[in-house]
Amino acid sequence: MLGSLILLWIGLWFLFFLFRTQRPKNFPPGPRPIPVFGNLLQLNLVNPMNDLEKLAGRYGKVFSLYIGSRPAVVISGMQAMKEALVTRSVEFAGRPQDLMVNHVTKSKGVILANYGPDWREHRRFTLMTLRNFGLGKQTMEERILGEIRHISLWLERSAGKSMEPHHLFANATSDIICSILFGSRYEYEDEAFQSFITMMEENAKITNGPWAMLYDTLPLLRNLPLPFRKAFQNYYSVQEHVLGIVKQHKRTRIPGQPRDLTDCYLDELEKRYTLVSHVKWKILSRFPCQRCESGSSFDESQMVALLLDLLFAGTETTSNTLLTAFLYLMTHPDVQERCQREIDTVLGEKEQASYEDRHRMPYMQAVIHEVQRVADTVPLSVFHATTKDTQLMGFDIPKGTLIIPNLSSVLSEESQWKFPHDFNPENFLNQQGEFVKPEGFMPFSVGPRVCLGEGLARMELFLILVTLLRRFQFVWPEDGGVPDYAPVFGVTQAPKPYRLCVRLRGTQRG
Ligand code: HEM
Ligand SMILES: *[C@@H]1O[C@H](CO)[C@@H](O)[C@H](O)[C@H]1NC(C)=O
Ligand SMILES: *[C@@H]1O[C@H](CO)[C@@H](O)[C@H](O)[C@H]1NC(C)=O
Repeated sequence: MLGSLILLWIGLWFLFFLFRTQRPKNFPPGPRPIPVFGNLLQLNLVNPMNDLEKLAGRYGKVFSLYIGSRPAVVISGMQAMKEALVTRSVEFAGRPQDLMVNHVTKSKGVILANYGPDWREHRRFTLMTLRNFGLGKQTMEERILGEIRHISLWLERSAGKSMEPHHLFANATSDIICSILFGSRYEYEDEAFQSFITMMEENAKITNGPWAMLYDTLPLLRNLPLPFRKAFQNYYSVQEHVLGIVKQHKRTRIPGQPRDLTDCYLDELEKRYTLVSHVKWKILSRFPCQRCESGSSFDESQMVALLLDLLFAGTETTSNTLLTAFLYLMTHPDVQERCQREIDTVLGEKEQASYEDRHRMPYMQAVIHEVQRVADTVPLSVFHATTKDTQLMGFDIPKGTLIIPNLSSVLSEESQWKFPHDFNPENFLNQQGEFVKPEGFMPFSVGPRVCLGEGLARMELFLILVTLLRRFQFVWPEDGGVPDYAPVFGVTQAPKPYRLCVRLRGTQRG
């Protein structure tokens, strides 16, 4: 009995030393990790925010944390954030490479691609394409306004009643992205479209949940038939779905006259292949899915991953921000009315709003920015990784360290804001009532990895909010209970589900 206890004890110590986590020299301070699990057992994994706040309070603006045996550094506050993501931009522009999400997506596309030529080429291509040109006759603005007409129709049907807005906004924002990527929007009831959204939402949950944590921490488990398998299956089926759309595009496209981003990518593929010499082209064209030998990273699997990335990144983020907007507009009727007065004055008899109008709407701009600040939609950004050995605030950080940029901390930092803890559009207005944007406004992050869809998201938020506020009045339902402003924690956060009451406003257009 005693003998086996001693043996067990020796065995445990052996394991302890085998898996001992060695802190690099001059590494940022942090709680002591235990083998295999790191600091995971010390955190409440469902909502780690409180525990992490305590750690930040204890160890400062730059502290370390072990996720399993993987060292991570959490960055908070404006000063450290700017030093990392702006001053030392390239050193902090990588992405971690061996997490579950990387295995699911094979690190293709843009969001999870490591810093390097593949990422750079795809990022540049997408930015160019998203700028109004290259997308056929319809401008980005027209696509968004078209979708807003559908939202208006749905809201009109609910006029005088209360409704649950979550699905409406989620459907609308993914429709806008679909129209840009694939040229067609889906009817809100379309079945394939619904299962598509469901699978993406499910994957977001799985890859942030405890099973993914286990997958990342204990590689031995990876091949077992555990619930995380579902994430891989989901990804394959959405991939198949998108491949089908691509095939259809190949049949109907006219080279040089792109209808959407998919057509643009196909044009780009063709251009890059024809750059290769004629003989090589003959060989290559038989393997159209292989990586092109001209040194280009464009291929079909990258295209599918890019399309899925944009669909994924562009839907929940924007619709969650809209949910936050209406929560605050309903519970701050004075703010809502002031927006409506400004909108009525500036738009007058105009048929519809245009993005240019924002320059004449300082109050509306302030409200949208304040909504984004309190919405704190992507609180911990997307995780970064260091691309080489580097330093931050005097600490040494080795290459490949996981970096967690705490954007929340900057959006509510006391030294950055007039009213850090309240909803108050004055945070973005100066003494003259003009719109100003403080440096601490970084809901899209900063540096070379800054959100690729920032321009699109801002255009959507402006046009949707202005058009709907012009047409409707939004009222907190009498039986709505006490409004709860605390967001539900996640990679992307949203307010808890609530209902809104819609009323038509007078004779205004929209
Ligand atoms: C209010 C809406 C949005 C918010 C708050 C938001 C926020 C963010 C944040 C915080 C990041 C991480 C940046 C970093 O790694 O430092 C990001 C990345 C990204 N976002 Fe957005 N985003 C929004 C809308 C969109 C839209 C509409 C699109 C689609 C076109 C989009 C596409 C992307 C992509 C592709 C990346 C990865 C960029 C890269 O790794 O190089 N986002 N976004
Ligand atoms: C990020 O900052 C916020 C606000 O300061 C804090 O509540 C949260 O716990 C922090 N998260 C991490 C991971 O440090
Ligand atoms: C949006 O999607 C949900 C399911 O995700 C569906 O039930 C709903 O009818 C759709 N349309 C609207 C306008 O909410």
